[in-house]
Amino acid sequence: MNKHLRTAVLKSLEDTTVPVLERLQQVCELLKEGIPYYDWVGFYFRNGDKEELKLGPYAGAPTDHTIIPFGKGICGQVAVSNKNFVVPDVKAQDNYIACSITVKSEIVIPLFKDGVNIGQIDIDSNTVDPFSKADEEFLEFVNEEVARIL
Ligand code: SME
Repeated sequence: MNKHLRTAVLKSLEDTTVPVLERLQQVCELLKEGIPYYDWVGFYFRNGDKEELKLGPYAGAPTDHTIIPFGKGICGQVAVSNKNFVVPDVKAQDNYIACSITVKSEIVIPLFKDGVNIGQIDIDSNTVDPFSKADEEFLEFVNEEVARIL
């Protein structure tokens, strides 16, 4: 998926003159601007030793959900399952935390550092059922590259 976007992501991540969190911020913005159905893009990371996620860099509307307990919502479930979670229609989910009424679908991909699930990338879309295998592969690539600089 989108070779130019992959190249741009790598370029941002490899720029060691920029602080790491700023590089992740740039990646969020690149993804949100580069893919029309990515309406909110953010990273959550495990909050120290706590069984909760903390919001990191993101692009899109501010969210109240800056802390998410493990097991809660789509993000919290991925923190414990270690598996990709693709939600074609958020209305069909019971364990879901709504960030905005405009969001129709979501994809969350865990981020592993040395085999440990340390966080995730979370994408919200205002389109129903937009995500394919190509999105999963692309976001796995992004997370692998992010893990290298953490
Ligand atoms: N919808 C997520 C919460 C995070 S927001 O999408 C930014 C969830 O159910 O975990």
